[in-house]
Amino acid sequence: MDDSVLDTIGSPLVRVSSPPGTTVAAKLESRNPGGSAKDRPARAMVRAAEAAGELEPGDAIVEPTSGNTGVGIAVAGAAKGYDVHIVMPASKSRERRRLIRAYGAEIDLVEGDITAARERADELESRGMVQLSQFDNAANPDAHYETTGEEMLDQLDGRTPDALVCGVGTGGTITGVGRRLREAFPEMDVVAVEPAANAVLSGDEPSEDAFQGMGPGFVSPNLDTGLLDGVLRVELADAEAECRRLAREEGILVGQSSGASNLAARRVAASLADGDDPGYRPVAVDGWESRPDAGATNGEPVVVTVYWDSGERYMSTGLFAANDGDES
Ligand SMILES: Cc1ncc(COP(=O)(O)O)c(C=O)c1O
Repeated sequence: MDDSVLDTIGSPLVRVSSPPGTTVAAKLESRNPGGSAKDRPARAMVRAAEAAGELEPGDAIVEPTSGNTGVGIAVAGAAKGYDVHIVMPASKSRERRRLIRAYGAEIDLVEGDITAARERADELESRGMVQLSQFDNAANPDAHYETTGEEMLDQLDGRTPDALVCGVGTGGTITGVGRRLREAFPEMDVVAVEPAANAVLSGDEPSEDAFQGMGPGFVSPNLDTGLLDGVLRVELADAEAECRRLAREEGILVGQSSGASNLAARRVAASLADGDDPGYRPVAVDGWESRPDAGATNGEPVVVTVYWDSGERYMSTGLFAANDGDES
């Protein structure tokens, strides 16, 4: 028996349909208690603030988020007895707002993107709330280093991953998992995935895109760009089609960033199997250097990725409307 719902954090690694002669495997993060990967950094950032004496009983937590971190912090706040105040762009899905309120947290909706939400959260912090700052807080990538990455190592059952391919928001997931896996497998590629319409890591100007959770439009301080072998871009329409395929053909219901990451992971796996150039773009950050190509794989290529949340969080966006014929 666990003492707290926060002790149930963890997820399976599942082999998904993969290009011939390869294995693509994904962490199904919707299995966490708050339904996404962000339960991990939420718990870790609350614990770190408590340990530093910055968060005490009676304090209120504030955080700007596109949604899943808000749910994770609302879960951690409810389980630990803190008031939680989430600042969110009004464009994010209704399910996220309802979920956050269901856990008893307050929501402040702002017009604009995550940058506007950050400004509002800074204002509330200056009035005495405790901001966890997922874009800068080292406890975010550390949570993925200590849990997501560690679990993957165990779940790989002795197989050697050739590449980690996954989307980037705060960069916590790719940085934490990438650091842990690279320690064990120094040759492994780490590949970021970003929205084609907002490809800041590839050097494009920041722009608008409709991806929820990935592609913040700036290079997050929590993204360790030195880990990256390169970047792949995915169109939203392709990511959403991949979500529908995963649901229909594999029984796995996930959101846009997971669909995008899966497409990119499959592309990398296929090129490793065929000996083709996977087509990584250089990372457009000063000082970034590509690593020498690791070369041949050890037998059948293995590519790991992350599915951050469930497609249930996207029903109101119409993501699955093409499946059910119900546009209401
Ligand atoms: C749905 C979704 N996908 C991807 C990400 C990116 O994860 P990270 O912030 O660890 O880079 C997030 C983060 O909030 C998310 O909510």
